[in-house]
Amino acid sequence: MTKTYVMGETTIRALTDINLSVEKGELLSVVGPSGSGKTTLLNMLGALDRPTSGRVIIDGVDITEVPDRSLYRLRRDKVGFIFQRFYMIPTLTALENVLIPTLPIRGDKVSVLERARRLLQEVGLGERMSHRPNQLSGGEQQRVAIARSLINEPEILLCDEITGELDTKTGMEIVELLKTVNRMELVTTLFVTHDRDVAAATNRVVTLSDGRMISDQPK
Ligand SMILES: Nc1ncnc2c1ncn2[C@@H]1O[C@H](COP(=O)(O)OP(=O)(O)OP(=O)(O)O)[C@@H](O)[C@H]1O
Ligand SMILES: [Mg+2]
Repeated sequence: MTKTYVMGETTIRALTDINLSVEKGELLSVVGPSGSGKTTLLNMLGALDRPTSGRVIIDGVDITEVPDRSLYRLRRDKVGFIFQRFYMIPTLTALENVLIPTLPIRGDKVSVLERARRLLQEVGLGERMSHRPNQLSGGEQQRVAIARSLINEPEILLCDEITGELDTKTGMEIVELLKTVNRMELVTTLFVTHDRDVAAATNRVVTLSDGRMISDQPK
């Protein structure tokens, strides 16, 4: 798969000849210098954007053949995202923030609410559900973001520099929490990271350089 961005006269080759296959339930990280294409790759894998050439197949569905208007549904049903910034809605409580990806709630409202509460308990925030983001620490907000990413029972969890705004200890606690989620719920989990310790906590490390995959270990 290849991704180029055209900006006026210049063409930026963000990804070149990427050939990556990830099994269900894998835990891996993508590393590489700033500008090497990590976020671009993540955006392709989460169907946030489309490759310029080649194919992206998510859970058997080739996203390059899915029309734009229904791509959101594939994302909503299959992919959870966690970012460096927490992107909480400041006026909503932790519990309400977790419920955002379920809106509008069709079907059984009670069970959705129960799942949100259970997820907040599992990430260690059972006592913080009615706190607003400014009443939570950074690590706690990232835990809310984890619960939010899991509310629709995704197949894939994509995490872009999620420890970037946290101290080392809190960051590694978040990583350990996600390792548990990966094991318990069999969610395929991918970390994009600059942090060696985060990469070392995963089973497979893909290295990008200048938009190319230069290593994939162990493989
Ligand atoms: N929407 C865009 N339009 C044009 N160029 C882009 C766009 N997004 C990224 N790029 C370019 O593509 C290249 C890869 O960017 P990308 O954001 O994937 O890097 P990265 O590895 O995530 O870097 P960082 O570690 O700094 O987050 C960069 O040269 C960047 O300037
Ligand atoms: Mg990036």
